[in-house]
Amino acid sequence: MAFNLFKQNIFLGIDIGTTSIKLVELQKTRQKIELTNYGILEKYGHLERINDAIQTDSFKLLEESTALLLKQLIEKSKTKNRKTYMALPSFSGFISIMKLPEMPNKELAKAVNFQAGQYIPMPLQETTLDWQIIERTSGKIIVLLMAVPTDIVKRYVHSAELAKINLKGLELETVAIARLLGKKEKGVVALVDIGGRSTSINIMDNGTLRTSHNVDTAGGDFTQVISSGLGINPFRAEELKRAYGLNIQARGEVKITNLLMPLLDVIKRETEKAINNYFLKTKKKAEKVILTGGGANLQGLEDYYSKQLALPVIKGDPFSWGLISYNPNLSPVMKDIGPSLTSACAVVFKDI
Ligand SMILES: Nc1ncnc2c1ncn2[C@@H]1O[C@H](COP(=O)(O)OP(=O)(O)OP(=O)(O)O)[C@@H](O)[C@H]1O
Ligand SMILES: [Mg+2]
Repeated sequence: MAFNLFKQNIFLGIDIGTTSIKLVELQKTRQKIELTNYGILEKYGHLERINDAIQTDSFKLLEESTALLLKQLIEKSKTKNRKTYMALPSFSGFISIMKLPEMPNKELAKAVNFQAGQYIPMPLQETTLDWQIIERTSGKIIVLLMAVPTDIVKRYVHSAELAKINLKGLELETVAIARLLGKKEKGVVALVDIGGRSTSINIMDNGTLRTSHNVDTAGGDFTQVISSGLGINPFRAEELKRAYGLNIQARGEVKITNLLMPLLDVIKRETEKAINNYFLKTKKKAEKVILTGGGANLQGLEDYYSKQLALPVIKGDPFSWGLISYNPNLSPVMKDIGPSLTSACAVVFKDI
């Protein structure tokens, strides 16, 4: 029946971050992929109590409370339970590039599994592996190897079961973001995802992820330094951060920029390191920096990093990039929330 076929083309993407859960509903038609609904559940408790984050660095995803939040989000955004894809935080997994000689696909699968242990710094029997061919030229196959502790995969699957979600796929978020933004961006690019608790620093080349590492400096730390530096409570500090960012024109708040600079420089140095290491390996220079995650919304950040890194810096936003269309009524907010929804959107593109 045509009606059923139409319904099958609606998918949900979910990104469970440290400080918020984001949900998108994407509809695929012959001409385009459109955002038909979204929901963001922000949790402010983390500003006061570090253990109140939705997810903690020790990977203790609190399955039951997460499932409850997921249910609430699905209900509030009035979406239906569709084929759903979830993003795994980049700090929970590990990626590596494998170079292999040309061989038939059947043998390749065996070779990848056989050699994976040399590339992955985790016990293989406790790890869930995934891989994809990213280049196959002149007798060489280049494979992107992805590994996530099986325990974490199980926790996500369990949360989805508890929330009665029809889970079709799980993927490391930076792998997914690189694939989505890589549809437009084919050069060597540093992709910097600034979240609440951690920042993921990646190199993309020819539309796929090549290197990835994480630093523990992110948006939550920006709020903390403003709070302690100005002697104000974290909620007020969060407001000021969002209102002014690095916009030094804003009256009287110049000090915020000075407080943030040492933290921004940590991310800058790590980005430079990733760019330099990739250059040493491949002799290819990064052409630009793409910022994603909620932290990318810090006002003035693109200009600041562009001067500091002497490279063009842009926000990675699938909506303003024309990769996903949306209802024009949403335009004023899409500019602000686009970079935050990137992961949730990107995971859906695994299959569509
Ligand atoms: N307009 C804004 N200006 C500055 N910072 C912002 C703005 N909007 C959101 N943020 C910050 O973005 C951060 C949250 O980003 P995001 O939603 O990507 O994180 P998360 O996915 O929950 O965390 P993580 O990826 O670390 O698990 C918070 O620190 C928040 O203060
Ligand atoms: Mg995140």
